[in-house]
Amino acid sequence: MQQRLAVVTGGMGGLGETISTKMAGAGYRVVVTYSPSNTKYRAWLEEMKGRGHSFSAYPVDVVNYDDCARKCAQIQGECGPIDILVNNAGITRDMTFKKMTKAAWDEVMRTNLDSCFNMTKQVMDGMIERGWGRVVNVSSVNGQKGAFGQTNYSAAKAGIHGFTKALALEVARKNVTVNTISPGYIGTQMVTAIPKEILDSKILPQIPLGRLGKPAEVAGLIIYLCSEEAAFVTGANISINGGQHMY
Ligand code: CAA
Repeated sequence: MQQRLAVVTGGMGGLGETISTKMAGAGYRVVVTYSPSNTKYRAWLEEMKGRGHSFSAYPVDVVNYDDCARKCAQIQGECGPIDILVNNAGITRDMTFKKMTKAAWDEVMRTNLDSCFNMTKQVMDGMIERGWGRVVNVSSVNGQKGAFGQTNYSAAKAGIHGFTKALALEVARKNVTVNTISPGYIGTQMVTAIPKEILDSKILPQIPLGRLGKPAEVAGLIIYLCSEEAAFVTGANISINGGQHMY
């Protein structure tokens, strides 16, 4: 059987890079999408080649429905049917609600939540027709419990799980699973950009494991959810947060 084709949005980013390389290592053909504003994509592809990975990469504006439609059609034309979609692309625009601008609200909602619709819409009919598919939506502990300075991000990330549950119901009988993962604070640039005193005084003390998570730990969970063995897991929201939030 041909190796399954996985698309990872934001596949060159902090978490995305590890998801892409670990999925490739697990035997998937991986297409990474990156933001059209990313000018360093060639250097990234070269670096990956040096590490033994030759990825196909496409600039996709996940905020723009028509661009997602065009690029997913191009990917499927050039690489084959998309079996797995990892909706990983996401941004933060942290500020307290008092300072929250409409632009910061809209940008986060569109990039983190609308993107799940824009991308999943392009691949779901094919998954249903072929009777197999995996969608993994990357949410956050902060969508489960809220976070100081993240009304926009927490709302978008909570919204992702509503999307997951409703879609999982609709496509379950076609052997397409849809799941959410909710990582806690993982050692990526998104987290290391938090002011150090806030990280040390407010965040790390809340994590029983006493450390940030590793991107590879999150990638391992995604690989499990994409596997044959995970066929009975759908509509789930799996926490991976070092014990920071249990429910
Ligand atoms: N809990 C409680 N109080 C907090 C707090 C927190 N997490 N963060 C800040 N405060 C307090 C500050 O101590 C300060 O208190 P005082 O006025 O008594 O000194 C007050 O709130 C205002 O804080 P700032 O001066 O920092 O206000 P600011 O407007 O300059 O910045 C902020 C606010 C942008 C929210 C900043 O505190 C910040 O960046 N916090 C981190 C937000 C965060 O956790 N983001 C997660 C990013 S990683 C991610 O999102 C990945 C994921 O999925 C987990």
